[in-house]
Amino acid sequence: MAIVVTGATGRLGRLAVEGLLERGVAPADIVATGRSVERLADLAERGVRVAAFDYSDVPAGVLSRGDVLLLVSGSEVGRRVEQHRNVVDAAVTAGVGRIVYTSTPSATDTTLVIAPDHAATERAIRDSGLPHTFLRNGWYTENYEQAFRQAAETGAVVASAGPGRVASAAIADFAEAAAVVVSSEGHEDAVYELSGDVAWSYDDLAATFAEVLGREVGYRPLAPEEHRAALLEAGLDEGTVDFVVGLDRNTAEGLLAVTTGELTKLLGRPTTPLADTVRTWA
Ligand SMILES: NC(=O)c1ccc[n+]([C@@H]2O[C@H](COP(=O)([O-])OP(=O)(O)OC[C@H]3O[C@@H](n4cnc5c(N)ncnc54)[C@H](OP(=O)(O)O)[C@@H]3O)[C@@H](O)[C@H]2O)c1
Repeated sequence: MAIVVTGATGRLGRLAVEGLLERGVAPADIVATGRSVERLADLAERGVRVAAFDYSDVPAGVLSRGDVLLLVSGSEVGRRVEQHRNVVDAAVTAGVGRIVYTSTPSATDTTLVIAPDHAATERAIRDSGLPHTFLRNGWYTENYEQAFRQAAETGAVVASAGPGRVASAAIADFAEAAAVVVSSEGHEDAVYELSGDVAWSYDDLAATFAEVLGREVGYRPLAPEEHRAALLEAGLDEGTVDFVVGLDRNTAEGLLAVTTGELTKLLGRPTTPLADTVRTWA
């Protein structure tokens, strides 16, 4: 019986493995998986078991009866639901003890543009009959690193999020919560709505950038159509533009602003403040 972590070549999966080691889980009880197993070599050197694992072509023999599987949602939008279903089918065949899936806020009851893939995956997991835990992860503070770099150059944060707020937390916070949930009991069939403790506005974001950069930074709110035109002008493709403007609309609607306190509860400490993460980019 092991804790199998997918996406361990990515940010969240890697930090979840580190979190498990920090919590005292024996390296030999962890299986870190990814598409490029060579990128897990340093973990193997520390005694963590590593295995190649592609959601599109799930290998036999990696998952075993009774394992706890941390399924990190994939990054190939448009192919994810089918890929996640492959993993769920393999988990059923292997007799996995529990699937922990990284989902999105209010996955089954929201107009958030990224929600349909997560809702379909949650449904597949529920329908599998396997015990499960859904980690409905809110927004990563790290999503704003590019905005920070732009602000450093231009002195502006440009978005069409209106007065919307974002209750973000650091990726490390979500990863630590995942480590807690996969390595302890009492989370069977639980759905956690995870958010940062503070919902900040884009004015707050600009003020934080200004403080860290030591220069003036202001929020320049655009109407969605203006934003769309600016992004197209900057050379982004239609699909990406729709996605970015759609997410800003969702932010304006307040869909990312809900502070639930559930992340802090799992961590047993406050979530990482916005400014602390921003300072690491300076
Ligand atoms: N809440 C948020 O703000 C937010 C922001 C961004 C993303 N996300 C979601 O959360 C997930 C984890 O975030 P992250 O920051 O760790 O993303 P990330 O650094 O891009 O890592 C994604 C991981 O998923 C793996 N993966 C993707 N497709 C796969 C497939 N077909 N088979 C096996 N592995 C596959 C990647 O493998 P490779 O290294 O081989 O590519 C990588 O290890 C993302 O994949 C995305 O679904 C959430």
